[in-house]
Amino acid sequence: MNVSQRKILVTSALPYANGGIHLGHLMEAIQTDIWVRLQKLRGNDCVYVCADDAHGTAIMLSAEQQGITPEKLIENVSNEHQRDFADFLIHFDNYHSTHSEENREFSEHIYKALDKNGHINRRSITQLFDPEKKLFLADRYVTGTCPKCKTADQYGDNCEACGSTYSPSELIDPRSSISGATPIEKDSEHFFFALPEFRDMLSEWTRSGTLQDSVANKLREWLDTELQEWDISRDAPYFGFEIPDAPGKYFYVWLDAPIGYMASFKNLCDRTDYNFDDYWQKGQDTELYHFIGKDIINFHTLFWPAMLTSAGYRKPSAVYVHGFLTVDGTKMSKSRGTFINARTYLDHLNPEYLRYFLAAKLSNGIDDLDLNLEDFAQRVNSDLVGKVVNIASRCAGFIGKGFDGYLAQNPDNPDLLAEIQAAKDEIGDYFESREYSKAIRLIMALADKANQYINDKEPWVIAKADKQSPELQAICSSGINAFRLLICYLKPVLPNMAADVEQFLAIEPLQWDDADSLLVGHKINKFKPLMTRVEADKVKAMVDATQKEFEAQAKVKSAAAPQPEENTTGFENEIDFNDFAKVDLRVAKITSAEHVEGADKLLKLVLNLGKDKNEEDIVRTVFSGIKSAYDPDKLVGMLTVVVANLKPRKMKFGMSEGMILAAGPGGKEIWLFEPHAGAQPGMRIT
Ligand code: MSP
Ligand code: ZN
Repeated sequence: MNVSQRKILVTSALPYANGGIHLGHLMEAIQTDIWVRLQKLRGNDCVYVCADDAHGTAIMLSAEQQGITPEKLIENVSNEHQRDFADFLIHFDNYHSTHSEENREFSEHIYKALDKNGHINRRSITQLFDPEKKLFLADRYVTGTCPKCKTADQYGDNCEACGSTYSPSELIDPRSSISGATPIEKDSEHFFFALPEFRDMLSEWTRSGTLQDSVANKLREWLDTELQEWDISRDAPYFGFEIPDAPGKYFYVWLDAPIGYMASFKNLCDRTDYNFDDYWQKGQDTELYHFIGKDIINFHTLFWPAMLTSAGYRKPSAVYVHGFLTVDGTKMSKSRGTFINARTYLDHLNPEYLRYFLAAKLSNGIDDLDLNLEDFAQRVNSDLVGKVVNIASRCAGFIGKGFDGYLAQNPDNPDLLAEIQAAKDEIGDYFESREYSKAIRLIMALADKANQYINDKEPWVIAKADKQSPELQAICSSGINAFRLLICYLKPVLPNMAADVEQFLAIEPLQWDDADSLLVGHKINKFKPLMTRVEADKVKAMVDATQKEFEAQAKVKSAAAPQPEENTTGFENEIDFNDFAKVDLRVAKITSAEHVEGADKLLKLVLNLGKDKNEEDIVRTVFSGIKSAYDPDKLVGMLTVVVANLKPRKMKFGMSEGMILAAGPGGKEIWLFEPHAGAQPGMRIT
């Protein structure tokens, strides 16, 4: 083993199991994955673990809504999450769940240690309680009218309209957003972690170089003033771990979530040679890093190190905080449908485009990062396709045609190659310090130089005169070597493209130090296109698909909104919104109407429901019991309303493929209307 080899354990934050992976999560995972890949390429022993964060009220409710157990829900979601991450080339050494035996054991163990050390206090608190669902309501599950400005439908403890904050019990006409019931106030005993006792330790630790300056400064204020005890218990019903010797009390999801880092690593240790204590006991020479977003700083830089300290474990070597990803300048928002899901992106675009774009923009600060979609396409096309791949595509053909794929013994331009090689440590150090944009800028400046060199030498001119000229071979071998070095530096960002290049160059997987050597007298394979341009219509298709998903989601949501229990419509057979939403009502044009031989009441109608995707007419035959009311000839050309998605029914006289709406005795009834510009066949009635 290499003596200078570092032993490093890395995590990124555990995504909640109640939703899919979106580009915000991916920004974090890609940032972490690039860092881990760099460590591995540099020969360090670096392990990257993650897990799903599977506990909490939201997951319990969402399982209930889907009619499945929370266990089933988190299993489904975990599979989906892992597929999404894998398809973005995020390489975890282990991906586990906080709802695991390992995590239960560590959580109980740590809690017992905190309790034994006198760091758990118990006292009764008053909270809003949903008397119908029989559960305590976290602030975000209470809505009502703002007590200050009287704006309706405000969530929890602050008003979006006037910005005032209050206790949810001060809301006017408060409602549980889960059942619609009016909440009552209720007492129960909660368990608190004595965070203020760790003030001194935290003041020192947060200022000892473990955190970015901007993060440490933010925390300073907190540490100097408002450090409070932390409520770590929740009452049943709750999806989580029951607290030992406290029936009906559960660990708050944020207690066992960071412990999930340990649990995932332990799960890895159990099937490999890694030793848990080497990474979690105090006084080891291993390193531990957490990559997180700026919204969860407190949990990782106050509660977590305090818990670890009380329970006798080591603290993180550093916590690396990043800002938020915005799309085209706006915050991604569920309510506005601007969250781009991992899968939606993958349906249209290459994951390495995003990896590259983020790398080109990421710094080690906590500023937000904007994914401007035009900039995205522009950047990837001009850098990766226009600069990097271009070097190889301009040189490879000549090597193949003139020299049977053999690179020269002596590349033509040792200075250029030496300059690229000399940048190795600087680029590596930029990656190490998470200044990815600086690393990328340097790599692209070198790519520009290589392209300039090829422009100057014009190998295509030489090839015209003599395609076996030794000069041509030496120039193109320089180009290919420059390309190989640049790919070596880009490998943490573009692992798939690097693998394709290794295949093209017929070489072993590149390691960081391979940049110290050159490829000479070596036979390479035929060049295949390595990366295609980002196409604007693919980007647009992704944005459109995101909007569609949002609309579909909004429909399901309004269908699932709390419904009053009793029938309040005054009509029999009350249906809920969900039932109604299933009915697809369309405007149809009657193109033919005729009597049905042997049927007293039926008319056979042929309807036109507009055009399908391929611009073909949608034609349906419907048998309708309206013969007595209408003269078939008068119906032709009229518009009517049809239930378009009724399952076809076999009738005595043929298949009926829909149903038209009718009322009254017939004649000029409401269900018939004359064609006009505002009503076209196929229009949806909503
Ligand atoms: N489950 C907690 C983390 C527990 S860690 C012990 C959680 N989950 S999350 O799914 O909401 O977020 C997971 C990570 O994704 C967090 O680090 C969060 O900051 C990050 N991001 C979520 N949305 C993001 C953006 N729009 N941009 C960048 N990162 C974002 O918090
Ligand atoms: Zn208000």
